[in-house]
Amino acid sequence: MGYKLTTHSEKETIELAQNIESEKFPNMVICLEGDLGSGKTVFTKGFADALGITEAVTSPTFNIIKEYTTGEMPLYHMDVYRLDGRVDELGIEDYFTKGGVTIIEWSDMISDYLPEERLEIKIKVVDDQEDTRVISINPIGSEYEYLCEAVL
Ligand SMILES: Nc1ncnc2c1ncn2[C@@H]1O[C@H](COP(=O)(O)OP(=O)(O)O)[C@@H](O)[C@H]1O
Ligand SMILES: [Mg+2]
Repeated sequence: MGYKLTTHSEKETIELAQNIESEKFPNMVICLEGDLGSGKTVFTKGFADALGITEAVTSPTFNIIKEYTTGEMPLYHMDVYRLDGRVDELGIEDYFTKGGVTIIEWSDMISDYLPEERLEIKIKVVDDQEDTRVISINPIGSEYEYLCEAVL
């Protein structure tokens, strides 16, 4: 079962990320889809903050992968927009089983490499409503279904 909700500010998207973080588990994978400026990095920063990460979380567009280890659990933050097929070279798939949480911006660009079980989040900007985002959440696998039942 999928979920659909609307946020009306950056703050509400951060709150959603915090709620999901409260049910985190090792090897959790969150796949974020949505156009540039839709709020993927905002969501990730909210999640990182809730994890207690003290480093500044910045968009990993040019680094592809950034690893943060100062929180309750490691966070692997990826932005695969400029990956250009280097999935193996960067060992993308290795992160899914390293015990932390992986958040992937533009995950649709590596759809063949994603783990079968994951949380898919699609963010849509609503035309002419600058701060409104329609967010579709699709849990794949029982752990993610329980998570959604708990927090959404
Ligand atoms: N409801 C909302 N949720 C998330 N971000 C929002 C919202 N409304 C406005 N924004 C703004 O949209 C922008 C999203 O930027 P960012 O998270 O970097 O996008 P992306 O990573 O998807 O390219 C930020 O400037 C943020 O303040
Ligand atoms: Mg981003």
